[in-house]
Order: sequence, then C-alpha cells, then structure tokens
Amino acid sequence: MARVLVTGGCGFIGSNFIRYLLAADATVEIVNFDALTYAGNLANLADLQDHPRYRFIRGDVADRDDVRMAMQQGITDIIHFAAESHVDRSIHDSGPFVRTNVIGTQVLLDAAREFGVNKYVQISTDEVYGSLGETGYFTETTPLHPNSPYSASKAAADLLVQAYHHTFGLPTVITRCSNNYGPYQFPEKLIPLFITNLLQDQPVPVYGDGWHVRDWIHVLDHCRGVEAAWRYGRPGEVYNFGGRCEMPNIVLTKLLLKLLGKPESLIRYVADRPGHDRRYAIDCSKAEQTLGWRPQVPFETGLAETIAWYQTHMAWVASIKNKDYVNYYQKQYGQL
Ligand code: NAD
Ligand code: TYD
Repeated sequence: MARVLVTGGCGFIGSNFIRYLLAADATVEIVNFDALTYAGNLANLADLQDHPRYRFIRGDVADRDDVRMAMQQGITDIIHFAAESHVDRSIHDSGPFVRTNVIGTQVLLDAAREFGVNKYVQISTDEVYGSLGETGYFTETTPLHPNSPYSASKAAADLLVQAYHHTFGLPTVITRCSNNYGPYQFPEKLIPLFITNLLQDQPVPVYGDGWHVRDWIHVLDHCRGVEAAWRYGRPGEVYNFGGRCEMPNIVLTKLLLKLLGKPESLIRYVADRPGHDRRYAIDCSKAEQTLGWRPQVPFETGLAETIAWYQTHMAWVASIKNKDYVNYYQKQYGQL
C-alpha cells in the first residue's frame, strides 16, 4: 500500500491532484505537506478534512526538520508539487524562488535518500525549455534554456533530481507540463485573473502585443499524467505533458470576453513582461506512447466549466483577493 507525501497540496494543482487520486485509488493514503504561503489555501481541500486516508501537515520543504518529521509518517513515495510558481513574482523578487524551488528540492531529495522511497516524482514545467519561435515543439531532449528567475529555479531543481538519480540511484521521475487551467487556480495567472476581473466588469491586462502563445491543458489531464508517471514512469526519465492546444493570449482573451458576454473595451494592453517567452508548445508523444496517457478534456468544455466554477465560488475569490493580493495587484499593474 502506498502512503504518498504530496508537497504543495494546498495550491492549485496539488489540491486537484489529491482530490483526484483519493477518488481514483481506494487504497492510497496521502500526507499533504504545505507551508500555506499566499498561494496555499486550506479551503481548497475543505471537503477532505475528515477523509480517513488524508492528513495535512503544515511545513516548509526547505526546512530539514519539518521534512524529516513528515517522512517519519511511514512515507513510501514523494510527489513534489510545492513551489513558488508565478513568473511575475519571480521578476519582483527571486529570493523565495531559489529557496523553495532549489533548496526545497534538495532537502526533499536528501530525505528521499535517507528514508528510502519507491518513487520520487518532481513536478516541473515546460518553461525550463525556454522559448520557441513560430514552429517546433519541446521534447524531453530539448536542451534546458530557462529565461525567467522562476524557470531558472525549476531547471536547477530538475538538474539536482537527475543528479540524485545518476549518482545515488534514487528512483526519480520528472514531469514537465504546459500551462494548466481549472478550478482553484490562484487569480494571479492569466485565466483565473481574467475570469474573476471580468465577472466584476474590471479590465484585463494583456502584456505586450498579446501574440504570445501558450499550450493549455486542463488540470485534471495533468493530474492523470502525474499519476501515470508515478505508477509507470521509468526511473531517471522525463515525461512531457501538454494539451495540444496552442493559443495566442489575445485570442484567448477575446474568447473569455465572448463566453462571459463582456465588451472588448475591457481589454488593456500594458507593458510587456520583461524577458517574456514568446511561445510554448509541448510534444507529449512520449507520454502517450509509453504511459498510455493522453489529454482528454476539450478546451472549450474545460474553459466553460472553469468559468462556471469561478461564477459559483465568488466567496472563495473574495477571500483570496485580500489586502496582500490588492498590494500585489497594485505593484504589478498600477491603475488599469
Ligand atoms: P501554486 O502556487 O498554486 O501552489 C503552490 C503550493 O506550494 C501552495 O500551496 C504553497 O503554499 C506551497 N508552497 C510554496 N512554498 C512552499 C514551501 N517552502 N514549503 C511547502 N509548501 C510550499 O502552484 P501550482 O500552479 O499548483 O503549481 C504546482 C507545481 O506545478 C509547481 O511545482 C509548478 O512549478 C508546477 N507547474 C505548474 C503549472 C501551472 O500551469 N500552474 C504548469 C506546469 C508545472
Ligand atoms: P501566466 O498565467 O502567468 O503563465 P506563464 O507565464 O507561466 O505562461 O501567463 C500566461 C500568458 O499570459 C503569458 O504569456 C503571460 C500572459 N499574461 C498577460 O498577458 N497578462 C497577465 O496579467 C498575466 C498574468 C499573464
């Protein structure tokens, strides 16, 4: 029987993953280890509070004592989601990114060695590959070329993971996924920021010319990929996941306006993000061929469901758009 340490389980993808895995596997036990930063929210898993196979421990992945205490709960596997995850925040201050994403990963890898695990899964990102031109795709062998402090910290973590596999034989797997969307995403990322602003008739800030391209995947498709990589991934391997759904930001923005019945006058073109990666696009054929995985949620369906989720969770949104959020928003966007 598996008792999995899921780090960062109170964030967007981690909370979706825990809910998904507990329902998909009637035997798995999950210990959710999360520091509850600005992005971590116990309300994201309120429905699981009394679940017999779920437990929450508050702790910091960069703190060895916290991590050792969690590992002493009979952990058999680690799935490491915890991270500082927002590019724009990493441009304001890269310190927390290096601490959590690099040192936190090193601490977890040491703990995985010390306690022994069946599998260590590192949740990485397609952003470690850098930026594409108008053609081509990221494969697992594309050289790492991170451009933002966020993606540099994630790439550094990936290199440590591969070194621990190579040097110590740790049974690691790395997943690199494209941009996720879905319920419980913190409204600093494009889709939830724009939906929640538009629901309140607030303007939406499009960076630069708006023709930067992202490859969108529903969070549950990512969760299914992480499960497959955990169960069937070969130690030492990397698996890319993507939605085969490329879209320029301005096209996505106009689609959101249309679905929400809002006027295009709410679009604000603002100064571009420094170092803004032009295009991400994932070749996920390795995961399709070797893990039996494929993205299942059509973008139109997933996006409509996501909009409906935010419409019915405005109290959740209001609790997040607190004083700290307003300060961040002001610093990032000023007056729109
Ligand atoms: P998120 O920001 O929503 O959640 C991060 C979680 O990690 C929060 O619950 C936070 O409290 C926790 N955390 C942060 N620092 C911590 C620390 N020092 N110790 C313990 N917990 C800490 O992030 P997300 O969007 O759910 O992303 C999860 C993972 O997936 C990240 O590793 C990210 O790089 C990766 N990823 C995200 C996307 C995406 O589109 N969101 C795409 C590919 C990969
Ligand atoms: P984001 O959701 O921050 O994800 P990432 O930078 O990790 O891809 O941004 C997605 C795209 O949307 C990216 O090209 C930047 C752009 N963007 C805006 O145009 N305006 C915004 O306010 C934000 C947050 C993002």
